[in-house]
Amino acid sequence: MEHDINRFKEWVYQNLKIDLHAYKERQLHRRILTIMRSSGCKNLDEYKKKILSDETTRNNFLDYITINVTEFNRNKEIFDQFEKHVKSELLSKKREIKIWSAACSVGAEPYSLAIIFDKINPANRHTILATDLDEHILEQAKAAVYSDKYLKNLNQSDINKYFTLKNDKYYLDEKIKKRVQFKKHDLILDSYPGPFDVIVCRNVTIYFKSDARNEIYQKFSNVLNPGGLLFTGATESIYNPSEFGLKKLHTFIYQKIG
Ligand SMILES: C[S@@+](CC[C@H](N)C(=O)[O-])C[C@H]1O[C@@H](n2cnc3c(N)ncnc32)[C@H](O)[C@@H]1O
Repeated sequence: MEHDINRFKEWVYQNLKIDLHAYKERQLHRRILTIMRSSGCKNLDEYKKKILSDETTRNNFLDYITINVTEFNRNKEIFDQFEKHVKSELLSKKREIKIWSAACSVGAEPYSLAIIFDKINPANRHTILATDLDEHILEQAKAAVYSDKYLKNLNQSDINKYFTLKNDKYYLDEKIKKRVQFKKHDLILDSYPGPFDVIVCRNVTIYFKSDARNEIYQKFSNVLNPGGLLFTGATESIYNPSEFGLKKLHTFIYQKIG
């Protein structure tokens, strides 16, 4: 079975242009078999054929394997820390802030940033690039329509100010939508854009093997301006930040040295 899964990963790379070799194996293999079975296939050869012939199966596979779970202001207390450091480390020194939200899923994270910057930098001199490898979820991100489960960390006054409720769905304000530009980007395979003053990359490096994760942190550091901030997920503290030219401001917030 191990051999079949390795061949399947090679096939995914050739056919869907996603490099699954960088992902932690045990967890990934379990997920491949779970999604294969839930799509009604008995083996990986049958599943490959279905992925190629049926768009829903292909999208379900990509969604499940890349894990899209997200919400606005995920881990709110760390977002509050992030806001504090943006004010003290960036806004006090610089007026135009370039932000990258990498692995942004359905957009809750970059739009959270857009809302924060709308409040703390009302002169609006900031740009937000949001990327993910999954084109299907980027389309959802651009639509910016959410159910209430995504909004549970927002206070009611922000919900009233930034969303319109219609038929149980929350439609994000056009002004906030316009602040974010979405683009497909694969953290393993693509070259990195830049430079940026802030990179937010949360809850994705946890799925990668340590070599791939270290490479990503080095590449982030390379495209951060001196003094710029890297904001990671609540289980993704970097143990050796100085190896990447970073210093720790908070367990999940790092600053480019220089
Ligand atoms: C669990 S979500 C995290 C979303 C958001 N950053 C947050 O913390 O709420 C992980 C996201 O990483 C994306 N992803 C997985 N592998 C990726 C890769 N190699 N390059 C870019 N994005 C990737 C998935 O498509 C998914 O949207």
